[in-house]
This record gives sequence, C-alpha cells and structure tokens, in this order.
Amino acid sequence: MSELERQLDELVELLRSGPKIAVLTGAGISAESGIPTFRGKDGLWRQFRAEELATPQAFFRDPRLVWEWYDWRRGIIGAKEPHAGHRVLARWERYFPHFVLITQNVDGFHRRAGSQNILELHGNIWEVRCTKEGTIAENYESPLPEIPPLCPACGAIVRPNVVWFGEALPSETLEEAYAASATCDVMFVVGTSAYVQPAASLPLLAAERGAKIIEVNPEPTPLSSSADFAFLAKAGEVLPLIDERLLAGRGQA
Ligand code: OAD
Repeated sequence: MSELERQLDELVELLRSGPKIAVLTGAGISAESGIPTFRGKDGLWRQFRAEELATPQAFFRDPRLVWEWYDWRRGIIGAKEPHAGHRVLARWERYFPHFVLITQNVDGFHRRAGSQNILELHGNIWEVRCTKEGTIAENYESPLPEIPPLCPACGAIVRPNVVWFGEALPSETLEEAYAASATCDVMFVVGTSAYVQPAASLPLLAAERGAKIIEVNPEPTPLSSSADFAFLAKAGEVLPLIDERLLAGRGQA
C-alpha cells in the first residue's frame, strides 16, 4: 500500500466517524478550472499591482481602470467551469450533517458547482454594490455594456462587491467563519497560500481547538508542517479520491 493510500484510508476513517467539518478554500481550488491564482508563477499579483486595482483609493481615483480589470477577470471566469473538486465539496454539504464551506474566492465557482451555504469572505465578483446606497445586486453581464456600470435605481457608480486591500471583511460572514473554525473537528484547507489574514488565522484557530487539519496543495505552505494530513497534490485530483473512498461500499459512489 502506498503512503498516499494509507493516508487516504486513515482520513476516510476519520470522516466516517461523523465529525463537524469546515473547509477553507483559496484561489488554488480554481486553478484547475483555468483561473489564475494570485501568488503563483503566473499569479495576478505578479502581473498587476494590487494597490492600483484592488484598493478603495484606486477605485476612487480611476473607477474605469479598476472596472476594466474586473470586467477582464469576469470574462475569464465566465468562460470556465467548476471542476470535480468543487463538485465534491458541493456534495459533501449534503452528505455531512455538519459542514461549512468558507472561501476566499470571488469567482462564484462553489455556487455554480451546487454549494449553497458558502461563507464568501472576500465577496463575489458577480455582485455589484451601489457606492451611494450600498445596495447589492447580482450582475452576470460579461462583457459589461457600460464601464463603469451604474446603479439602475439611483444612477451612481456601482463597484464590485469584493473586499479590497485595506477594507474590512463582511463582519457577519467573518464571525460565522470564526465560529465554524473554532467548533469543527476537521478542517480542510484547500488551495490557499495561507498568507492573507484574517483567513489564514482560521486553520490556526481550528488547530488550537483540537481540530485535525487536512491540507490539499501541490506546494508546501506555512501550514503544511503542522497539518495532520498534507496532500501535496491538486484539489481536482485529491478531493475526488477522498470522495470515492468515502462512498465506496455504500452504493453511492
Ligand atoms: P494564492 O494565489 O496566494 O495561493 C494559491 C495557492 O493555491 C498556492 O498555495 C498554490 O500552491 C495553490 N494551488 C495551485 N494550484 C492548486 C491546485 N490545483 N490545487 C490546490 N492548490 C493549488 O491565493 P489565496 O491563498 O487564495 O484577496 O489568496 C488569498 C487572497 O489573496 C485572495 O483571496 C485575494 C488575494 O490577494 C483579495 O483580493 C482580498
């Protein structure tokens, strides 16, 4: 039996014991769908300056430039599909009685894959927020017919409903993420470099409260050495492998 098989068997036994599960995902889970990550080799922050595109100051200075960048990203995301890894997480939401999905991603792939209760820490690129009234609306137009887009109700400029550098995360969502992390028995950490706070502190909180940490990432991160299971592999490969084993013998695979 290979080391991977031994690890998978051990993990599946743990998952069959009915634990409370939390999952934290980052840009890496969407990499296999063809969405660029932020810090990898071809990462967005290697090509663009975050302070020129992902801050409230940048938007105030040049909303058109910022929207052009988001319109470009929406175009890439809209042309791609969630993969098997996203779909496994959507299925686990129905399979496990205690399951919370926390994501740093704004791409909306978890929703498209069928997940319903998602704590989107950094917002969603398919939502816009009125800069005057604060109202939030879904907007799937791609490419946008007008840049910057305007609020249909009051005519003010709308902004992407995402969290920019220097901004607070949505407080209720963050509270729920902290609560889930503090009370889970098992936390999966999938496709995140585990650098960006406060998301990076969630697995630390979970571990401190005794949860087992399962990392899925082809590259080691600051979390890897303390993780209980560190799968140095792609999300789209490992999650289906775990799922297959989990369901094997139950006639649901
Ligand atoms: P990063 O780009 O920092 O990290 C992506 C991680 O995914 C890296 O550790 C990769 O090794 C890993 N990875 C790549 N391919 C993978 C695959 N197929 N399967 C699993 N893992 C893979 O992205 P995040 O950690 O999500 O914030 O970044 C966090 C935040 O930084 C983002 O939400 C964004 C960014 O600035 C804001 O915009 C506020």
